[in-house]
Amino acid sequence: MTEAKHQTGLVDRYQRHISYLRLSVTDRCDLRCQYCMPERMQFLPKAEILSLEEVYRMALGFMARGITKIRLTGGEPLVRRDVIDLVRTLGRHIGQELEELTLTTNGTQLSEMADDLAAAGIRRINVSLDSLDQQKFAKLTRRDRLEQVLEGLQAAKAAGLRVKINTVAMKDFNEGEIASLIAWAHGEGFDLTLIEVMPLGEVDGDRVDHFVPLTAVIERLEKSWTMAPSGHVTGGPARYFDITETGGRLGVISPLTNNFCAGCNRIRVTATGQLYPCLGGGEQVDLRAALRSDDPDENLSAALDEAMRIKPERHFFDISQRGAEPAQPRHMSVTGG
Ligand code: GTP
Ligand code: 5AD
Ligand code: SF4
Repeated sequence: MTEAKHQTGLVDRYQRHISYLRLSVTDRCDLRCQYCMPERMQFLPKAEILSLEEVYRMALGFMARGITKIRLTGGEPLVRRDVIDLVRTLGRHIGQELEELTLTTNGTQLSEMADDLAAAGIRRINVSLDSLDQQKFAKLTRRDRLEQVLEGLQAAKAAGLRVKINTVAMKDFNEGEIASLIAWAHGEGFDLTLIEVMPLGEVDGDRVDHFVPLTAVIERLEKSWTMAPSGHVTGGPARYFDITETGGRLGVISPLTNNFCAGCNRIRVTATGQLYPCLGGGEQVDLRAALRSDDPDENLSAALDEAMRIKPERHFFDISQRGAEPAQPRHMSVTGG
């Protein structure tokens, strides 16, 4: 018997098993959230973006190396033309190599796409929503689309998709709205996860001005609600609480106040085929070159081994100082959240 060149599973230097791929299909977005990007965002040149066929071929290479969960991200994944074709082809692997295919979206396209997503095999989606106040939403996203998102959420519900709302907690913006956002989400049958703002990519303001430690938010919520730590796990970085009064689940993603890097199970690929083994690190591996080489399968697999060798132990986000440079020049919309 000949020895396999690459071991099947992806395991990094810190013995972390990587089974979760976050795959960005575009860095473009129809919103311009202030903490995420500047108003005049410089997007990646279209010519450098992988074709959907290349993305699919790459995904096959990941599945061959033990990736069992794929999350499509962006930018906004649903603004990429024909993305539903990719969802359908990947959807055929659910129950085979894939345990789950899912998506993180801003919700603006869900009215038109929720049924197709459900039919392609998607069971749950994460939808970013930071305010239910039309004016605040418009100010934060620089686009007046709250109504469209709320309609999209109803369409997702009607299509039978389970929904998790992602809310970035921000001082002087939605901090006072957090309890009502949670109560609303739980009333709709949605989970909700709070996220700490991370210093990734230049934006027009200073994120430090809006940073809220989620430890403080939870302490405040505990004054009016009974919050029991939950054993729920999704394979994501959130810790969960069950709230007795709302009957729902609250997730907390707190990279700054409670580092979760030791349990990291994920890697990310951008729409141009750059693999970033860490959201907060500069290390990268060029999968596009591997894909376009004369032995794509072998070179892709070798590139994944390289990613395991260079995946850093942790991020070094620090948001304690005004005017501090972002931890990485790359925006979240490029790396895919
Ligand atoms: P679930 O499968 O629902 O648990 O999803 P998830 O939490 O992995 O995915 P989601 O897209 O909802 O992630 C929410 C946000 O959490 C992301 O947009 C990031 O802001 C943050 N996040 C996700 N993964 C990581 C990570 O590995 N490191 C850090 N620092 N933040 C992450
Ligand atoms: N810090 C924290 N979350 C961010 N997101 C985008 N940029 C940032 C940032 N700098 C969130 C969005 C969405 C997810 C994809 O990433 O709100 O929920
Ligand atoms: Fe993993 Fe990097 Fe995220 Fe930490 S910041 S959890 S190391 S991807």
